[in-house]
Amino acid sequence: MKKLDNKVAIITGGAAGIGKETAKTFLREGAKVLLVDINEKSLKETVEGFNNPNIAYCKADVSKADAVKEYVRAALDNFGKIDVFFNNAGIEGSSRPMADYPDDIFNKVIDVNLKGVWYGCKYVIPKMEQGGSVIITSSVAGLKGFEGLGAYVASKHGVVGIMRTAALEFSNKKIRVNTIHPGPVETDMMRRIEADISPEDSDGAKKGFETSIPLGRYAEAVEIVNLVLFLASDESRYITGGTYVADGGMVI
Ligand code: NAI
Repeated sequence: MKKLDNKVAIITGGAAGIGKETAKTFLREGAKVLLVDINEKSLKETVEGFNNPNIAYCKADVSKADAVKEYVRAALDNFGKIDVFFNNAGIEGSSRPMADYPDDIFNKVIDVNLKGVWYGCKYVIPKMEQGGSVIITSSVAGLKGFEGLGAYVASKHGVVGIMRTAALEFSNKKIRVNTIHPGPVETDMMRRIEADISPEDSDGAKKGFETSIPLGRYAEAVEIVNLVLFLASDESRYITGGTYVADGGMVI
């Protein structure tokens, strides 16, 4: 018996990084997966790369309500139900002090990271008719401040509020909702943040982050996915409304 046998999962932000690694693990554990991403080319390549009849995809911008409704429909059309929702798509925005932070980038980060998670919860969870598990990707930046990352920090704190509300409102439908809080992970997002902080010395920016992590290194994506899998599976069936940290000790 695999951990996700007979389960249908939606994964947003599934064409790269943590979402893509999650798709790989969920398929291995017996789930059927609808992969959602705004980047159609990567999405198609990712799904074709799996070469597995249990995965389908839907191109969607999670910050647009109509697009969210469309990926819900795609999941139901392809697989007939939804048991697991990994509400994960996110962007980093810019690394600038608050006083200089561009308003358009602030709005974009809130649109994708906060509204995207909100629309996902609003339109997906009511369709999880036989109960299930929702995992929202926050960050260590959802638990503490980071200078220069104001929009990202605000959005990642905000999704904790969405999680707590959803966990209460949907508990009577046997739907569990939790957030995960990774520290830096070896994905494209961290490469972009390092380059943004220090265009001439992104390796130096990486070393700076590493010295703030007690375990001394970034996570591999799979080390975050192990937590996602636990929260998605019935092994965590009594766990809801929680904030789960996987950060090598960064927020100690
Ligand atoms: P990534 O940048 O490698 O992948 C993110 C994926 O989301 C990309 O495929 C991108 O096309 C997609 N995406 C972006 N905007 C979208 C939109 N509007 N609609 C649909 N898809 C969209 O990022 P990574 O590292 O895999 O991050 C995944 C989640 O983990 C994000 O929410 C991020 O904030 C969070 N996170 C990442 C950490 C890290 O160090 N990489 C640390 C803590 C949290």
